Amino acid sequence: MTRTHIPVLAGELIDLTAPAAGETAVDGTFGAGGHARLVAERLGPAGTLVCIDRDPAAEEHFAEFAREAPCETRFLRMDYADGLAVLGEEGLEADLVYLDLGISSMQVDARERGFSYSYDAPLDMRMDPGQELDARAIVNDWDERRLAQLFRRYGEEPNARRIAREVVRRRGRAPIDTTAELVAAIEAALPAAARRRFGGAHPGKRVFQAIRIAVNSELDSLDRALPLAWALLREDGRFAAISFHSLEDRRVKRFLAERARGCVCPPDFPVCVCGREPEAEVLSPRAVAPTAGEVEHNPRAKSARLRAARKLAPGAAA
Ligand SMILES: C[S@@+](CC[C@H](N)C(=O)[O-])C[C@H]1O[C@@H](n2cnc3c(N)ncnc32)[C@H](O)[C@@H]1O
Repeated sequence: MTRTHIPVLAGELIDLTAPAAGETAVDGTFGAGGHARLVAERLGPAGTLVCIDRDPAAEEHFAEFAREAPCETRFLRMDYADGLAVLGEEGLEADLVYLDLGISSMQVDARERGFSYSYDAPLDMRMDPGQELDARAIVNDWDERRLAQLFRRYGEEPNARRIAREVVRRRGRAPIDTTAELVAAIEAALPAAARRRFGGAHPGKRVFQAIRIAVNSELDSLDRALPLAWALLREDGRFAAISFHSLEDRRVKRFLAERARGCVCPPDFPVCVCGREPEAEVLSPRAVAPTAGEVEHNPRAKSARLRAARKLAPGAAA
């Protein structure tokens, strides 16, 4: 089985979170196991790595990984938020939980799965092929206002309304069933000037991102997962997330900043009455970005941003 996914910010993830021999780690987004391989080496024979992914193709990669892994391994095929909840109910205590968000190169490159605007395929985009909602349903069933909102909020697409209008106009004649039909609608909706402003980027990039996020409830999963991941950590445990767009990165940043915040008393109070202590030490005061060398080697790393934090023992920040 071919692994075409190159793990992003891998050295930086290891340096920041320092997985150590005998520890227990959770990889919430296993993919092809690129990060998992590096973490597993650090954990060694006395360590355990629990891997989660909702895509059955990732489970096949896991089977290959598990045969040779240098540590104990386990796989949960489910949404990572559900997986973290299951592990919490089981009473697992983790030294490290990390998420490498978004889609894998294997998913983008599997043409028939419809994630890519570069290949003609049925409109699908489901990471879990067992789920009901797919891209075709969104494109053909959502009303114009909802589509425009989706393209604007999740794609940050400046021409969201025009594109939504064109999609609705075209699907009134015949359903939009394929990625090529959707790309044609997007291209027809964009004024020539807007097409030029995209520079090298494909005009479908933002809309495809927006639809993919909605199909896979990506932001809901992240919102549910952050507190569950934090709750799994023991004292001194580390959490890390690699995001690929600002909607994800903002959530991670806010969540960690909130945990790292101490006293919330008004500044004119002479002494602290809230008694609130920081629970986290942020290990990445600025988000870590890939080097120019990494982007040259792997252009898909370009927008990646890594953030990490360590869970503090009560009183440790005093
Ligand atoms: C960027 S890839 C991870 C690549 C991996 N770190 C590697 O080095 O091979 C993201 C993976 O997370 C999975 N994924 C994304 N959102 C998920 C979710 N909410 N629950 C479970 N898996 C998810 C995708 O199916 C995909 O395999």
